[in-house]
Amino acid sequence: MTERSRLAVLGAGHLGPVIARLAIKAGYPVAIAASGDPEDIALITELIIPGAQPRWAADAVADADIVLLAIPLHRFGDLDPGLLSGKLVIDAMNYWPASDGVVQAFEDGGSSEIVARRLAGSAVVKAFNHIGYHELEDRARPAGAADRGAVGIAGDDAAAVAATAALADRIGYDPVRLASLRAGRVLQPGGPVFGVVLARPEFQRATGEAAGDEATHNKAAGEEAAGDKAAREELRSLS
Ligand SMILES: NC(=O)c1ccc[n+]([C@@H]2O[C@H](COP(=O)([O-])OP(=O)(O)OC[C@H]3O[C@@H](n4cnc5c(N)ncnc54)[C@H](OP(=O)(O)O)[C@@H]3O)[C@@H](O)[C@H]2O)c1
Repeated sequence: MTERSRLAVLGAGHLGPVIARLAIKAGYPVAIAASGDPEDIALITELIIPGAQPRWAADAVADADIVLLAIPLHRFGDLDPGLLSGKLVIDAMNYWPASDGVVQAFEDGGSSEIVARRLAGSAVVKAFNHIGYHELEDRARPAGAADRGAVGIAGDDAAAVAATAALADRIGYDPVRLASLRAGRVLQPGGPVFGVVLARPEFQRATGEAAGDEATHNKAAGEEAAGDKAAREELRSLS
């Protein structure tokens, strides 16, 4: 995928417009959608995301190569997995019990793994979730800048990870690839890189140490399987 890959940003709240603006600046054609009629976001899009196309979510997704999820996790169940099938889906969502409600599966594990299980036909990559929307825009820097920050990229599909890393690089961040989608748990709220912008060496050190720590405390296989079953059940409650 290239900077001509079409990006559909789902979510026109805080995070979505920032990513849309950065991606437009980097040359990506961008469509943005909220949950309803694009007319409702037409004016705000024109004012704060010039160049982005406001669309119905289904239309934006249908024409996109890359879909970025910037919606509250508790609204994720509204999305039709069939619509996203075959797409590269970047999951920038976080689990916030205060607004999402307490969902046990998300308490126990990786939110993007649960997202990926529901979107079985998509290549899901976790990225852009760990930096606040203000910082994401303010701290974007061209490649090679001394104070460039890093963005973690976690996924199990090599091509999808590469395309997401290219997007991160083009919008102003050094991509740091993590070993797997599961390894992306270190990017979650409460993790060592959440809410801070770190340069690549510090980021690698922090995520590497956390990964080692997690491996030490890894659950037994039986517990994992039980956790997956519980996650599937919890997901049904979101749908
Ligand atoms: N805010 C941040 O700094 C930040 C940083 C990193 C990650 N995140 C994560 O990104 C997600 C969004 O956060 P936010 O602060 O941007 O939320 P927000 O300001 O509440 O905006 C949410 C947006 O999602 C839209 N939406 C809801 N359901 C949708 C659907 N089915 N299809 C398309 N759009 C839909 C809403 O549209 P309607 O108005 O039509 O409902 C709204 O535009 C959260 O999971 C959050 O944890 C946020």
